[in-house]
Amino acid sequence: MTTTTRLIGAPINRIEGAEKVRGAAVYAAEHPADQPVYAYPLQSEIAAGRVTGIDTVAAMSEPGVVAVLTHENAPRLASTRDAELAILQSPEIGFRGQFVGAVLAESPEVARRAARLVRISCVAREHDVELHPARTDLVIPEQVNGGFETDTVEGDVDGALASAEVVVDATYTTPQEYNNPLEPHATIAMWTDGDLTLHDSTQGVHWVRETIAALFGLDQQQVHVVCPHVGGGFGSKGLPHAHVVLAAMAARLVEPRPVKLVLTRQQMFSVVGYRTGTVQRVRLGSDSAGHLTAISHDVVEQTSRIKEFAEQTAVPTRIMYAAPNRRTTHRLVELDAPVPSWMRAPGECPGMFALEVAMDEMAIACGLDPVEFHIRNEPETDPATGRPFSSRNLVACLREGARRFGWTDRDPTPRSGRSGPWLVGTGVAASTYPVFAMPGSRATIQARPDGRYRVLIGAADIGTGAWTALTQIAADALDVEMSDVQLSIGDTDLPYASGAGGSTGITCWGSAIVDAARQLRAQLPASAPIPDEGVEVTGSIPDNPYAGQMSMHSFGAQFAEVRVHVDTGEVRVPRMLGIFAAGRIINAKTARSQLLGGMTMGLSMALHEQSHVDPRFGHVVNHDLAEYHIATNADVGEIEVDWIDEDDPYVNPMGAKGIGELGIVGTAAAIANAAHHATGIRVRDLPITLDRFC
Ligand code: MOS
Repeated sequence: MTTTTRLIGAPINRIEGAEKVRGAAVYAAEHPADQPVYAYPLQSEIAAGRVTGIDTVAAMSEPGVVAVLTHENAPRLASTRDAELAILQSPEIGFRGQFVGAVLAESPEVARRAARLVRISCVAREHDVELHPARTDLVIPEQVNGGFETDTVEGDVDGALASAEVVVDATYTTPQEYNNPLEPHATIAMWTDGDLTLHDSTQGVHWVRETIAALFGLDQQQVHVVCPHVGGGFGSKGLPHAHVVLAAMAARLVEPRPVKLVLTRQQMFSVVGYRTGTVQRVRLGSDSAGHLTAISHDVVEQTSRIKEFAEQTAVPTRIMYAAPNRRTTHRLVELDAPVPSWMRAPGECPGMFALEVAMDEMAIACGLDPVEFHIRNEPETDPATGRPFSSRNLVACLREGARRFGWTDRDPTPRSGRSGPWLVGTGVAASTYPVFAMPGSRATIQARPDGRYRVLIGAADIGTGAWTALTQIAADALDVEMSDVQLSIGDTDLPYASGAGGSTGITCWGSAIVDAARQLRAQLPASAPIPDEGVEVTGSIPDNPYAGQMSMHSFGAQFAEVRVHVDTGEVRVPRMLGIFAAGRIINAKTARSQLLGGMTMGLSMALHEQSHVDPRFGHVVNHDLAEYHIATNADVGEIEVDWIDEDDPYVNPMGAKGIGELGIVGTAAAIANAAHHATGIRVRDLPITLDRFC
């Protein structure tokens, strides 16, 4: 194939880029709708209790108000098992901000204004919204997210810690953090003859269809979900949240008119998930030469009382380092709080913060360079399963990163670097992310008599570059030019695709596309003329014979320079370097953007992101971008991203691993470790704010 080397890996511009910058790309709420009704949610103002009365008289008398949806007139759902989604089925309230209704009006302004006129009476019961790790009623989840075991133990951790020459025993905390995609969550819902059409901002149209069909007791074919473009999701649009149900219920009330619902930034802080807060105790034992003898990682984190969410925080610890004695545990605190959900690298991101700061603490305690300490504890096979890694190039990333960052000149002494009023330090941490395989995706390729190829798959582009990378994969597999391939995604009328989650999009959808292309080429060689009626084939993800045999993960090494002002404690990050190993890179430009974006979000986590919950009322007080701080351009210095060539023939037909989430894993630890090197002060609780140094 002549095009392979040219297309795969090439830094191709986004094929939908011009459409996006011209404003021609249509996002969910922008989709034209005929005579839409606008919905504005009513939300609970207590954290726990029940609604005793809803007075809608004043709201209904406002000109332009069409209806008020409440638990009294809401459609009954076929399934109420998922208490996050089964809204308005009873007067019960499980958390502050939970939907208790919606005002429907002829304009969004009228709906919003009238919502303030609805009088909701409630009786409250006692609530608890604070993550106390010492609470005595901790819940043991059956399994943590992703189907992983809750606890693992191998060897005698306590014995090994008791006899270890060097021990690190520290507790790390990460706060509740919030996804803030540029495009807020938005849904247009419309019923036609009992069928439901949704224009929804989502990471997976088919996942929305499955969930909504089950809730409303519909056949899947009765639910049509459309979403060609998404302005970011980061996990918060991975699964449908309650606003999709609210929009569909509201549309039932005004059928056949469509209902538009766009969440405000503030509403997003209670109804679309968040990264659970964690309290993590890490204990490491080592011999004096820096060989780990024990690794223990115990996690306490929060879930909502109405629905269990068990973040897999200690799961990455199971595969990272060699040590004969290892243990991980997860426990949950049930709170009268909104339901946590996925946020970029759920599990890996907070878990690796704790582990990689502990690794830095242990390296220092052993008198070793942290890069050398990591390398010394590199496992030969996956410590959790004993299986070989399909490829693992953490050491290569560390070495290449150290070389390029100028690590070898580093004086390890804390507080030894100084530039004017700034204390200067550098830190390192490892990144990792699993190669998940989401089942079920299929892709159809139609060869048309005009020599062009249509590729159809219900995939999503959440801003990652999937439109472009999938077109590259198809063109490469068909051995044609990209301009000969016309891709369609983001619609349940297209073949089933799993959602853009777990960094699986390109690898899973791409595998189905490659399968379809190979079938097509078996029938119709590239040199053969295409028959008048065209040719159509559908491919699926081939079984991976190595799936149960090998451990599949991507890795990386992140280096950070931190400056802390000696008088004010102000923390700056002028320089970061990430070197990654993630199999074959499909598009060098969009891949670099993903990794750069991940590291930027990691910087944001390290220095800024934190919610403040008012324990009296149960809401996040800083629930907007004025007060929930995220990194802006002024916070980001120079970030360099690169990868090493990694040939992995085992993961999938492209040899590619996911890159969406890898970049955020380890960043906060690298920055915390650099801040320690700069100041001699160890910050174990994120975010690293200036008051920690004064
Ligand atoms: Mo990701 S947090 O699986 O969108």
